[in-house]
Amino acid sequence: MINVGIIGAGRIGKVHGESIMRYVKGATVKAVADPFMTPESEQWANSVGICEVYKDYRKILDDKEIQAVLICSSTDTHSSISLEAISAGKHIFCEKPIDHDVKKILEVKKALEGGGIKYQVGFNRRYDHNFKKAQAAVASGKIGELNVLKICSRDPAAPPVEYIKVSGGIFLDMTIHDFDMVRFMSGAEIEEVFAYGAVLVDPEIGSAGDIDTAVISMKLSNGALAVIDNCRRASYGYDQRVEAFGSLGQVAISNDTESSAVISDSSGVHAEKPLLFFLERYMDSYVAEVSEFIDCIEKDTPVKVGIDCGLLPVLIGLAAKKSLVTGAPVKTSEIAAEYGL
Ligand SMILES: NC(=O)c1ccc[n+]([C@@H]2O[C@H](COP(=O)([O-])OP(=O)(O)OC[C@H]3O[C@@H](n4cnc5c(N)ncnc54)[C@H](O)[C@@H]3O)[C@@H](O)[C@H]2O)c1
Repeated sequence: MINVGIIGAGRIGKVHGESIMRYVKGATVKAVADPFMTPESEQWANSVGICEVYKDYRKILDDKEIQAVLICSSTDTHSSISLEAISAGKHIFCEKPIDHDVKKILEVKKALEGGGIKYQVGFNRRYDHNFKKAQAAVASGKIGELNVLKICSRDPAAPPVEYIKVSGGIFLDMTIHDFDMVRFMSGAEIEEVFAYGAVLVDPEIGSAGDIDTAVISMKLSNGALAVIDNCRRASYGYDQRVEAFGSLGQVAISNDTESSAVISDSSGVHAEKPLLFFLERYMDSYVAEVSEFIDCIEKDTPVKVGIDCGLLPVLIGLAAKKSLVTGAPVKTSEIAAEYGL
């Protein structure tokens, strides 16, 4: 049995804590830590069977019986806690993004060298049942050579502007998942990006220096083209679709819904709206990604979504940011070169 410590008891920390305690074989959550631990969070920990509750995550790092930590705290703490956890010899599952600062991600990468520590990044969409099926169709050659990949990723509602201010901007906060999906679905690298952005949802997002709507075109290393469209508001719910078009056909996935019932009447044909947001849509993927992380520790096999999978979408996000400002396409290699990569 692998003993796990959860660092950060917010939304995603609770998701992972609960899924390990309920569904992940071979692991248990021994402790959870959060400096702003609320009575509600303590109650939650007790309700799922987590006995040790701390304010200081170092208690988890000092616990010799804990083999692995899940870093689920706010983004600005991920890289420094990663470095401490590596020194403490813990296997690490780190929520995305590892950091907004490439230099800090590179410090984590360096600290991992040769140490035998498993480091997985929380790009959960790779484990979603729909995306997995579409990726398998592309990888097996069912649609022939990939020509165009289209990703639609729209949130049901914009987060508070206070969140936007520290989010790193739409490309590093929201699109980062989609950049990872382009890499996953295509099996290729994103070589060049061209980003358009607009403020169409909330002027305050614009005042905070961000955009809320974006279209990003990409050239991939296998010659295919890709496009992502993002919006912070979709009035009908969380809109998460993908279409891969190739020389022999195409594969597309639609949104998950509460049921597949379709009601037809004199006013039209009515289906259910997409599931509300990520906690509803992606719950099975959160269980699957952590199960795989635990499995890699148990069997001592390499993780599939490692440190480079955490680094590359940040470089791509920075390329998109630069493209938005300059109004010109930007090569990912240009950004990588700024960091000596
Ligand atoms: N993969 C996904 O689908 C997904 C979804 C949501 C959030 N996330 C990522 O997870 C992270 C957390 O997001 P959230 O929505 O749960 O935020 P949240 O604000 O609900 O929770 C963050 C928690 O971290 C705690 N915290 C802050 N500093 C800490 C420290 N030094 N030690 C321990 N805990 C600390 C806060 O008190 C808070 O309870 C973010 O990086 C976010 O990008 C990923």
